[in-house]
Amino acid sequence: MRHFLIDTDTASDDAVALVMALMDPKIQVEAITLVAGNVPLDQGLQNALYTLELCGKQIPTYAGAAQPLLRELHTAQFVHGTDGMGDIGLPLQGRTPTPGNAIDVIIDTIKAFPNEIELVTLGPLTNIALALAKAPEIAPLVKQCTIMGGVGKGRGNITPVSEFNIWVDPEAAKIVFDSGMKMKMVGWDISRNHACIDLELCEEIKAIGTPLAEFSMDIQNIVKNFSSTITKLPGFDLPDPIAMAIALDESVATETAYLYVEVIIADGLTRGQTVVDHVNVTQKAPNMEVVFEASRAKFLSMLKAAVK
Ligand code: RIB
Ligand code: CA
Repeated sequence: MRHFLIDTDTASDDAVALVMALMDPKIQVEAITLVAGNVPLDQGLQNALYTLELCGKQIPTYAGAAQPLLRELHTAQFVHGTDGMGDIGLPLQGRTPTPGNAIDVIIDTIKAFPNEIELVTLGPLTNIALALAKAPEIAPLVKQCTIMGGVGKGRGNITPVSEFNIWVDPEAAKIVFDSGMKMKMVGWDISRNHACIDLELCEEIKAIGTPLAEFSMDIQNIVKNFSSTITKLPGFDLPDPIAMAIALDESVATETAYLYVEVIIADGLTRGQTVVDHVNVTQKAPNMEVVFEASRAKFLSMLKAAVK
């Protein structure tokens, strides 16, 4: 059995990534920790708890940071909807998280399963940075940290060069990227290039007919408009689900490289930019396995299997 710890700012793509992990029989999700990002913390908690209920799973789910380390919170409700789940009227209120502090849970879980925890981050890295700052000794104990964040090659989605998760809390991302953890970066380019769901495929997945299949597609109701008008993608893309697919099955990543990646702590267009040193001009030691290509076929097969 593999032991996962998932940190998320649960909105419409995070929810599908949670379904993929929760429905995988080879995975034990030890805990889910919430961070503010796509939506305010409390909404993210409700969205995660609703998704768990739909999957018929009971996993300890904890509240984490309600804002970035230093900066004010900027949500992505313009992308995912006010409730983060497509504003389709789901009953996303009234559920109770597990009492406890997410930062301590991250630390304690990693220490309880030394070299076994596979950490998957689907939102801003605030919680992970706080855990590393409080207990830096956990960094070498994490088996693998798969990060949905940054850009390996190409353009950003919140500035011309920056991806939302890193942009929201660049100071946290820098702490994590400099921590020495074994990390794999699945940038927004992987989602844009290999995880776009056009209308035809959306209908094909919905036609699987299960509650999870319909849920996974229906909650993309708002993001599909953002994708077609702002990012000009053929349909909506699923960044967290393809990052989760890579965490679940590393063979989904078909091209990777161990490189030095630096997070830009700045204001303006380069805020949160992940600068990838492709040819080691900095002569700095690699800190990240960067994913550059992925198998769309494997990703879609895993997505469909999860919602059957
Ligand atoms: O840039 C995409 C990322 O930002 C995804 O994790 C999405 O859920 C949002 O958090
Ligand atoms: Ca997310």
